[in-house]
Amino acid sequence: VELDEALARRRADRNYLPDPVAPELIDRLVDAAQRAPTASNVPYRHVLIVDDPAIVRQVRLISAALLANAPALLVVFTDLRLAVERVGPIAALSSAIDSGAAGENVWLAATALGLGTQFTMISAMAGIRVLLGLPDTCRVDLIMPVGHPSPNYRTGAPARIRPPVHWNRYGNAERSG
Ligand SMILES: Cc1cc2nc3c(=O)[nH]c(=O)nc-3n(C[C@H](O)[C@H](O)[C@H](O)COP(=O)(O)O)c2cc1C
Repeated sequence: VELDEALARRRADRNYLPDPVAPELIDRLVDAAQRAPTASNVPYRHVLIVDDPAIVRQVRLISAALLANAPALLVVFTDLRLAVERVGPIAALSSAIDSGAAGENVWLAATALGLGTQFTMISAMAGIRVLLGLPDTCRVDLIMPVGHPSPNYRTGAPARIRPPVHWNRYGNAERSG
């Protein structure tokens, strides 16, 4: 799949088939996440895969927002202590940006592989860190359900909104020249 096609096809999937995702496909998603940059090239961003059905179920119990019935979860989290130590006070922001970069890499790779995923904002919910056994110094940034998308789901997807773009100065709709 060409990049342009993956960009066009990427959508938030909220409905999955129960079939498990092959380990080699999960490995491709992990690889995509790891290829995303971090500020100052400090390895403070982590990926955790949940493929144990019991733990997937527990995470879903915590969260009403994680609507998808996905067979696996890809979690992106930050070792905030290392990030602040090595990058300084800007690390709180830079690490969130880095996690978004990793998540988008995963999303595009999943699209290219015919898998479905999306971002969910349940990361900060009480209990997630404990459930996954993360140290207190870690912040969960993204929980991405991963599965084979249900074939009928996307037909009802709304048209994608195009967020605003400016040229040179705020509010300017024309490029220079
Ligand atoms: C930072 C972020 C957080 C999101 N959180 C959720 C969420 O908690 N639950 C959900 O169903 N979708 C969530 N989404 C998916 C968006 O609603 C979806 O990407 C958006 O409506 C655009 O649709 P598209 O991805 O199909 O183009 C999130 C997306 C982003 C970028």
